[in-house]
Amino acid sequence: MTWEADHRAFLDRYYRLTHHVYDASRKYFLFGRDRVLDRLLASDDWTTLVEVGPGTGRNLARLHRRRPEAALGGLEASEVMRAHALRRCPWARIDAGFAEDGDIGAVLGAPPQRILMSYCLSMFVDKDRAIDNALRHLAPGGELWVVDFSELAGWAMRPFLSAFHVEAVPNDLLHRHGADHVEHGPLRYYVVARFTA
Ligand SMILES: C[S@@+](CC[C@H](N)C(=O)[O-])C[C@H]1O[C@@H](n2cnc3c(N)ncnc32)[C@H](O)[C@@H]1O
Repeated sequence: MTWEADHRAFLDRYYRLTHHVYDASRKYFLFGRDRVLDRLLASDDWTTLVEVGPGTGRNLARLHRRRPEAALGGLEASEVMRAHALRRCPWARIDAGFAEDGDIGAVLGAPPQRILMSYCLSMFVDKDRAIDNALRHLAPGGELWVVDFSELAGWAMRPFLSAFHVEAVPNDLLHRHGADHVEHGPLRYYVVARFTA
């Protein structure tokens, strides 16, 4: 089995069991997502955005509500989650593919001005490749925004997270790829980072 088939099989198995309760349960530990959405919406110099790993489509739905004129898309490895997000966001185009090598630029027909990775970098098999791939597919001057588990979550929740193939995002990964803004939530539970193309 290739790593892609292996990873997709894991994700589909996991989300088939949990997608009904996903949004209700995740609001208690996926902190910082709305802060990133507010940051994104604070600037009006973009109208195209692709979320990598949109899951249930929760973030895309919120962005659509507040910026209905924007073209929004997704790239999702799990077929279970992709079907769920498409039901919730019929106005979005959500392609099947992997963060590490998926054609993010093709989702909306042109390189997007913003790419969002919300609590998915911690799940990727190859985080370095995923960041490189996103930066390569951004429109000139575009931005990649990441929000994810940081040091406290990595330390306090390690056994729980690793059971679900999740690994907190190390700071050096973000700096190595040239993040131009990095900030942490309370007690360094989560991290928000911005990269500019
Ligand atoms: C924890 S969920 C987060 C969902 C959503 N971004 C949010 O903030 O609620 C992680 C999502 O990333 C997807 N995912 C995991 N590995 C992936 C990969 N290598 N490429 C693309 N999507 C992936 C999962 O299927 C899932 O939908």
